[in-house]
Amino acid sequence: MNVMQLFSLKNKVVLVTGGAGNYGRSITEGLGEAGATVIIASRNIEAIEKVSADFRAGGWDVHGMQVDQADKASVLRLKENIIRQFGKLDVFINNAVSRPMKGYNAPIEQFDESMRVNATGMMDILREMTGLIIQSGGGSVINISSMMGMYAPVYSNYDGIPGMGDIAPDYCFHNAGLIMLTRFMAKTHAGKNIRFNCISPGGLFNNQPEKFVENYCKKVPLGRMANNDDIKGLIVLLSSDAGAYINGENILIDGGLYA
Ligand SMILES: NC(=O)c1ccc[n+]([C@@H]2O[C@H](COP(=O)([O-])OP(=O)(O)OC[C@H]3O[C@@H](n4cnc5c(N)ncnc54)[C@H](O)[C@@H]3O)[C@@H](O)[C@H]2O)c1
Repeated sequence: MNVMQLFSLKNKVVLVTGGAGNYGRSITEGLGEAGATVIIASRNIEAIEKVSADFRAGGWDVHGMQVDQADKASVLRLKENIIRQFGKLDVFINNAVSRPMKGYNAPIEQFDESMRVNATGMMDILREMTGLIIQSGGGSVINISSMMGMYAPVYSNYDGIPGMGDIAPDYCFHNAGLIMLTRFMAKTHAGKNIRFNCISPGGLFNNQPEKFVENYCKKVPLGRMANNDDIKGLIVLLSSDAGAYINGENILIDGGLYA
């Protein structure tokens, strides 16, 4: 097949959780540009509808739906709505994240709250959407983890910045687990025409304090933080037939920081 056809996502229905967030918007844009029908889902329906209307105005086929992944009934409602409106699901980008824990010594209840969304709820929506993709004839799941699920924090990045540097352990813990879960899912669903991969991105530039950006960029061979385009190509590769033989993989995308 022609390589441009391999990368095409025409006629593919893709779900992106947290699709209105920082990385979520870049991911949605890349999928839309490759021709996919994209469903973006998160808790606040007004916010998600506003973002999807903006995407549609830009010419992409993007739809907003509500989900709270920590709520079983809400996950099942999302699944029913996808079936009712689109009849199938080809790709799931497991991207939503909640950050309720505010530092190493934060109350343990905040760790528990994080696990409800980022571990238990995440597992629930991952299993439900995997089932829907298999029922639809097969496809691809992409889990979004983080370089912080692979490597311990670099505390020197926060030197001289008041209010930064107290890293919450829940984020590293659930992102590390997601990398292993990706491999587990790839083996567990062997023979069902479904692939599972993970992307572990580095820090996305988001107007962080200048000192932090300076400390961070000094360590990156490419000399900069990630921008909004950096994740798009990999998302389209892993979602499309161009990545048809990539399965059970975790890909770090950090500008060479951990090379
Ligand atoms: N921003 C970065 O620099 C960075 C770096 C590395 C990895 N990542 C990863 O990228 C992914 C997205 O991160 P981000 O920084 O764009 O986050 P973000 O906070 O900008 O967006 C997260 C989204 O998840 C949604 N969400 C939160 N709780 C939810 C719930 N219970 N149910 C449904 N949706 C819920 C939010 O509404 C939001 O839309 C995460 O997996 C994160 O680990 C981000």
